[in-house]
Amino acid sequence: MHAVAYLNDHYLKLKAGYLFPEIARRVREFGQEKPGLAKNIIRCGIGDVTEPLPDAAIEAMHRAVDELARRESFRGYGPEQGYDFLRDAITEHDYRSRGLEVTPDEIFVSDGSKCDCGNILDIFGPQNRIAVMDPVYPVYVDTNVMAGHTGEADSSGAYSGLVYLPCNETNGFVPALPKEKADLIYLCYPNNPTGATATRSQLESWVEYALASEAIILFDAAYEAYITDGNVPHSIYEIPGARKCAIEFRSFSKNGGFTGVRCGFTILPKELNAATKSGESKPLHPLWHRRFSTKFNSVSYPVQRGAESLYSKAGQEQVRSLIDHYLGNARILAAALQKTGLSVYGGINAPYIWVKAPAGYGSWAVFDKILNDIQVVITPGAGFGAQGEGFFRVSAFNSRENAEAVADRFQKVKW
Ligand code: MLT
Repeated sequence: MHAVAYLNDHYLKLKAGYLFPEIARRVREFGQEKPGLAKNIIRCGIGDVTEPLPDAAIEAMHRAVDELARRESFRGYGPEQGYDFLRDAITEHDYRSRGLEVTPDEIFVSDGSKCDCGNILDIFGPQNRIAVMDPVYPVYVDTNVMAGHTGEADSSGAYSGLVYLPCNETNGFVPALPKEKADLIYLCYPNNPTGATATRSQLESWVEYALASEAIILFDAAYEAYITDGNVPHSIYEIPGARKCAIEFRSFSKNGGFTGVRCGFTILPKELNAATKSGESKPLHPLWHRRFSTKFNSVSYPVQRGAESLYSKAGQEQVRSLIDHYLGNARILAAALQKTGLSVYGGINAPYIWVKAPAGYGSWAVFDKILNDIQVVITPGAGFGAQGEGFFRVSAFNSRENAEAVADRFQKVKW
């Protein structure tokens, strides 16, 4: 046989492309078949922000670019974990102000929490048993497939080797503790895709489980700014013991509208340890630092200044009004869907509404029907895992005008 370089076979196990490119492909196909109707399409699929950046961020980024234009204020490579000004602001506003112990050197500023959720696997061994919620943000699963932590997928898209934690109407979309041992557990609250939140006592039981079984929780808090209920924890570190068993991922995408600008951060507490092959307990912080400084140079100076500005007084007010805008859309959309008689979840502490499809409809069938009948793009629940079958997700990231139009259009679907 002709000598070849070898590819990573694990990639060949991935199903039908990442969910959102697959949706985009179907929408393109619809546009080719029905160009007249396609002109009216309103997208409530991918959770991408629609409103312009807050003024505070625009001004801060302009100023930073001007600094780079002058020899005396020019900057080249920044500190690998991110500039102090940003890590200090994060520490102060997101943690100390809530009485939480996180130090700036435990913060790693990155180009987004999606990237971090995947990259973090570099510092974990292949022996780990991985647990994910089902339905799940597909990035957690696909990055583990790529890393060779799974076997093949079955017809529902579930991979052998992963522990799936069912989240459904019965458990309020917060999973029960696994019966089998899990070493790395992905939790996402407020949740994408269901919009559910976990209570303090539910998170306490996960932290207790992780401490008792020496597991690590990978806590994705990308939507924490949407929490409106005063009792819902914003950070896993609000739970005693979490510093010994949890890594937290945060994002500026959904609060400051940075989905295109790109900035997020990971908290890796210094006392968080994992075991070597020979069973010795070692801290993970130096490994993540090594990984970070070898494969990454943090985020551009203007972007970090933009992120810092979100913590200023003006920035905080502007972020609040963006979130109020999207949560206002969520209220309008949820009420409209309830009016059609469907069971509706989420949308109160999260920008996502999770809807139970009428009996007899699979979630891709719902996707096609809603696209055909009212030219609205939703996300089929099955794209998030087997438990998502029979549900669909509506994103509240939109202009008010579009949210209102979609609310009206939902009344016209003949199920
Ligand atoms: C989504 O629609 O689920 C989001 O776009 C996820 C993300 O932020 O990557």
